[in-house]
Amino acid sequence: MTLKSHIDRRRTFAIISHPDAGKTTLTEKLLLFGGAIQMAGEVKARGERRRARSDWMKVEQERGISVASSVMTFDYEDHTFNLLDTPGHEDFSEDTYRTLSAVDSAVMVLDAAKGIEAQTLKLFEVCRLRDMPIATFINKMDREAKDPFSLLDEVEQTLALDVVPASWPIGMGRDFLGCYDLIRDQLILFDRGKGDTLTQGIQCSGLDDAKLAEYLPDHALDTLREEVDMARGLCPEFDLQAYLEGTQTPVFFGSAINNFGVRELLAGLGAFAPSPRPAPAVERAVAPDEAKFSAFVFKIQANMDPKHRDRIAFVRIVSGQFKKGMKMTHVRSGKVMAVHNAQLFLAQDREIAEEAVAGDIIGLPNHGTLRIGDTLTTGEKIRFTGVPSFAPEILQKVRPDDPMKAKHLGRALEQLAEEGAARVFKPYLGSDWVVGVVGPLQFDVLADRIRTEYQIPVKFEPTSLLTAEWVEGDARLLKQFVDGNRASIAEDHTGAPVYLARNSWHLDKAKDDFPDLRFLKTKEEI
Ligand code: G4P
Repeated sequence: MTLKSHIDRRRTFAIISHPDAGKTTLTEKLLLFGGAIQMAGEVKARGERRRARSDWMKVEQERGISVASSVMTFDYEDHTFNLLDTPGHEDFSEDTYRTLSAVDSAVMVLDAAKGIEAQTLKLFEVCRLRDMPIATFINKMDREAKDPFSLLDEVEQTLALDVVPASWPIGMGRDFLGCYDLIRDQLILFDRGKGDTLTQGIQCSGLDDAKLAEYLPDHALDTLREEVDMARGLCPEFDLQAYLEGTQTPVFFGSAINNFGVRELLAGLGAFAPSPRPAPAVERAVAPDEAKFSAFVFKIQANMDPKHRDRIAFVRIVSGQFKKGMKMTHVRSGKVMAVHNAQLFLAQDREIAEEAVAGDIIGLPNHGTLRIGDTLTTGEKIRFTGVPSFAPEILQKVRPDDPMKAKHLGRALEQLAEEGAARVFKPYLGSDWVVGVVGPLQFDVLADRIRTEYQIPVKFEPTSLLTAEWVEGDARLLKQFVDGNRASIAEDHTGAPVYLARNSWHLDKAKDDFPDLRFLKTKEEI
């Protein structure tokens, strides 16, 4: 197989949804199809084992949210799928947004009784900014659901997206009989309670096929024909180009927990979802089948195994091929590194990567050299630009219960900052650290992680600070500014100066006094 055909097989995607719509269940069933797990329930079981191991996950358990994201690779038919999991809760949106920078398409899961919910909308907007192709899976058809027409209408109206049914539900709730696969002209009957087995579709020659009457009662068949007729009249035809440009979404109906409609979704992704797409860099766009290897770090996760204190950089390969032992340049530092211990993420395990190609995600263990947004390459020194960075919106002070642990706390905070879990500032004066996050729940998770992973009980306390802005500019001017405002200056984890403003007047005055300095709400991670 040529490199190009290897790359073309890849489907790297994420599932976006509001909590409880069924993302975990769908993931589990997708992995089941991929043969990556033998029994359904494994994803949850694994999650539970992990929770039992580390206390901070209790926060996740208690609040019913998923905090950590991960990567799962599996094969199905002719494709290799890389599924990137994203946390659903809005406080963890930074992580989610960055993960979305590493996928080529998304599956949007909706609860059939609820339609579009707040978090679905937010995540959808991020996908739209990237013109990302989105397939829609309307889940829980085995329960009382909204009418399929109003669901389609809701997607179309709320998201300003053309909808095309890829399958059509036959009944719902207790009367749910199955779906008609409009793409492959198959009747898929719903077999309640057979969640772990795969039912074969019944091939038909269209909705007029007499065979249908053998499987469906008259009234259900009449309704199906009528509704599909109407849907075809109301919706445009599936247009691959429109889907790839992110203006049209194929809609699948199903019931993840019953493993229903999942195969059709997976087949649809195989057939239509994009293979790895080009990625933007400062210098130019980089195509996946370029010979030279290039990649970017979109996520750092520290202490995946608390026993080993490891830190994994999640790296999306943009072009070329990775081979074990390969030497690559870390563009930010200019250093060359030989990579022998890259990891691949299979559904249940991590294993050492021998090879990987554009579209794949590899994990690089490191001790802090790699940061979010970093580019790695064997070719020219490019810098990828797609990984977003966020302004810290809420600032709190943190101090250890035991003052003797201040130094340890500093190291823990530095690691968490590099992981992208929070922004950490060390004021020039005073002994406290200031931590900036996007959502308040992040403080609870941070406190819990610092306590369980670093054995340092800490307290977060509100500050009267309004905002933190990075200050850049001419070195002499910057020194003058820093010297004149020492009480309000801090350093971030990279040592860059940050202005801690007490109020907007304070901030405006600083800007007026130093009009030639740049005040930045976010710092590019490149
Ligand atoms: P999430 O990751 O998006 O948060 O959702 P998750 O898969 O955990 O599913 C949320 C709840 O919805 C779970 O119930 C799950 O069993 C249920 N569910 C998922 N898919 C379907 C479906 O197709 N039909 C029906 N009827 N329910 C579905 P739970 O009671 O919260 O958890 P559990 O005790 O069942 O594990």
